[in-house]
Amino acid sequence: MYSAGPVSHAHAVFGSRCELCHVTRAGFFSQQVKDEKCLTCHDGPVHQATQVSTPGCASCHGEHHGAAHLAAVSNNDCARCHADLRTKSGPAHFERTILNFDTKHPEFRAVRADSRDPGTIKLNHEVHLKAGLKGPNGPVQMQCDDCHRAGNDDRPWLYAVPSMATAKSASRPPSAAYMTPITYAQQCAACHLLPFDAHISGSVPHDKPETVREFLVRTYTDYIRQHPGEVKTVWAPLQRIPQQSPPRVARNADEWVQFRVEEAEILQWQKGCKECHSLQQQQPLPVVAKSAITDRWFQHANFDHRSHRLLDCTSCHTQASKSRETSDVLLPGIKICQQCHRSSESAEARCFECHSYHDWSKQKPVKGGYKIPQLISAN
Ligand code: HEC
Ligand code: HEC
Ligand code: HEC
Ligand code: HEC
Ligand code: HEC
Ligand code: HEC
Ligand code: HEC
Ligand code: HEC
Ligand code: HEC
Ligand code: HEC
Repeated sequence: MYSAGPVSHAHAVFGSRCELCHVTRAGFFSQQVKDEKCLTCHDGPVHQATQVSTPGCASCHGEHHGAAHLAAVSNNDCARCHADLRTKSGPAHFERTILNFDTKHPEFRAVRADSRDPGTIKLNHEVHLKAGLKGPNGPVQMQCDDCHRAGNDDRPWLYAVPSMATAKSASRPPSAAYMTPITYAQQCAACHLLPFDAHISGSVPHDKPETVREFLVRTYTDYIRQHPGEVKTVWAPLQRIPQQSPPRVARNADEWVQFRVEEAEILQWQKGCKECHSLQQQQPLPVVAKSAITDRWFQHANFDHRSHRLLDCTSCHTQASKSRETSDVLLPGIKICQQCHRSSESAEARCFECHSYHDWSKQKPVKGGYKIPQLISAN
């Protein structure tokens, strides 16, 4: 009676049950498709609260074109708004005209001229990537992979000291698409231990200054209890630094602990911690700035390192081995992507490849209501 091609792969199982998508009036089929029909099986959450109109599901997810991938919508489906972007609440916060990725798409925010890496952990990539860097057991040649790996990679880290790990507040769950944020215990500790005393081996904990102080007071109190005879001996500091006062002779065990803790703390606050952190020197203890290592640079696009593993890291992160400052942004600009993501015979370049349309964080659960016979056989 009505001609129509086969439905998409995902819907093929109920392709003959026209009424599941089409509106029926008094038992008669109509070509009209309503959003409510689609929503009986899955949600399609709204794109932006501020959009001036909401297109119907079928206008982007057309049917009867065979086993097409339904989410592969055309650039025009986006351009009907993004060719001249407006919002209910006034001018748009984003580039006004975007038509295609090849020639009419803005440079990524993170790499625009005034962008900075907000991180506060000092790291000189160039120094660490030079041949013959001093490692824990002799010279080494570090690789990107010694510090950066995808979140699902569970090989042991080469320069980790697991005992230096601190309980971390839960951040984003590890993702196979992105690189795991750096931690001191996994990527730095073996080469940058935190020794505090020439006579007592070991490191201070890598933790808040309060915890470091507790550790020092406890360690020295235990020591002098076990070695009461050493109260009057003068200890040479682990390392002489200008901020330290000259060696002092203690009158009793309490004073001895106090002197030792002061010396060890000055060494950490002025040198140990300061190598990597900016410390706000204040009383009674300095404050360590938030590390602020960015784990997702693109807030408005998706990326997956796995699809790009055929490339050398520096084909995209071209400046990494020459960077000396944390504030340098080492991310690729759009020109690098455009070499492969082009509209003709190349990697996919339509908008859906890199962007979500639906705001899936607002997805509502759908309770399946059909019985098998309602789906598979037409009458
Ligand atoms: C998975 C949902 C779905 C099912 C099942 C389905 N259709 Fe469609 N159909 C659509 C959508 C979406 C459109 C496009 C509507 C639009 O453009 O507004 C459409 C359009 C049509 C059209 C209009 C002409 C065209 O080809 O675009 C006809 C005729 C049609 N369908 C017939 C059928 C018949 C007959 C069946 C059952 C054998 C059926 N459809 C099953 C979703 C479906
Ligand atoms: C009877 C249930 C049902 C109805 C009605 C239905 N779908 Fe689906 N849809 C599914 C199932 C099942 C899948 C495959 C599993 C999944 O991805 O959730 C799917 C997958 C999809 C996908 C992703 C698959 C791909 O190829 O990209 C899109 C997009 C989609 N549906 C859109 C629609 C639209 C638009 C309508 C209305 C015209 C509709 N669906 C109606 C059940 C339904
Ligand atoms: C402006 C075009 C557009 C409209 C309108 C639209 N979608 Fe989509 N839809 C997309 C794009 C692009 C994707 C793939 C990216 C994403 O997941 O957001 C997608 C993905 C989906 C998926 C697949 C999720 C998966 O599992 O991969 C479903 C289901 C879906 N849409 C349902 C709907 C429903 C239901 C409606 C109507 C309420 C709708 N869409 C309206 C563009 C659209
Ligand atoms: C109905 C109009 C409309 C359509 C169709 C539309 N957009 Fe948008 N889009 C908007 C509006 C409105 C904003 C937000 C503007 C603002 O807040 O300044 C936006 C913002 C965006 C943003 C930046 C903000 C964010 O949340 O990431 C991206 C990326 C985006 N759209 C991608 C797409 C893609 C891809 C498509 C096609 C699948 C699409 N849009 C289709 C209206 C639309
Ligand atoms: C010694 C460990 C170490 C090595 C080796 C290393 N990195 Fe990093 N990398 C870091 C640290 C720590 C940060 C966070 C601080 C910063 O942003 O500079 C970082 C940040 C980054 C960032 C994101 C920050 C931005 O500003 O763009 C990229 C991209 C990056 N590194 C790429 C590389 C590449 C590519 C290599 C190999 C050529 C490499 N790194 C080698 C430790 C390392
Ligand atoms: C394989 C050993 C090794 C690892 C792992 C390592 N470093 Fe280093 N780092 C060194 C050596 C050796 C130096 C001194 C290099 C020099 O001055 O030539 C150094 C120097 C530094 C400096 C001073 C750099 C400068 O500008 O002179 C900082 C800051 C630093 N490292 C931070 C880090 C951080 C943060 C990590 C972990 C993400 C890390 N390092 C991991 C060996 C390492
Ligand atoms: C070799 C470099 C390095 C040295 C030296 C170092 N840290 Fe760190 N520190 C890091 C890195 C990398 C992070 C971020 C990831 C993490 O939490 O391990 C960090 C994070 C921290 C944080 C959490 C900051 C936040 O984001 O809230 C504190 C607190 C801290 N360090 C204290 C110290 C103290 C105190 C010292 C000296 C006793 C010290 N660190 C020495 C590299 C270092
Ligand atoms: C190959 C990947 C890719 C493709 C294809 C792509 N984009 Fe983007 N787009 C990005 C990246 C990466 C950003 C930067 C995101 C960020 O700054 O958080 C971006 C940013 C945007 C923004 C925000 C712009 C701003 O003012 O900061 C919008 C809107 C947008 N894209 C829409 C589109 C539309 C519409 C299409 C299709 C015509 C499209 N994009 C195709 C990767 C892509
Ligand atoms: C096709 C280009 C490309 C290649 C190849 C590539 N990256 Fe990236 N990298 C990116 C983009 C784009 C981002 C920004 C993703 C985001 O955070 O939204 C990124 C982000 C990063 C970050 C910051 C944390 C994160 O995941 O967002 C690090 C670190 C990094 N890359 C290291 C590497 C290393 C190491 C390699 C080699 C194994 C590599 N990258 C290969 C494009 C690339
Ligand atoms: C060497 C060519 C090449 C370069 C350069 C490249 N890509 Fe890709 N990209 C691919 C291939 C191949 C795929 C997987 C096949 C496909 O989807 O077309 C892919 C897939 C993707 C995907 C989908 C990921 C997934 O698996 O869901 C995104 C998003 C993406 N690229 C973004 C980017 C961005 C952003 C850049 C620039 C920073 C970039 N690509 C640079 C070749 C490239």
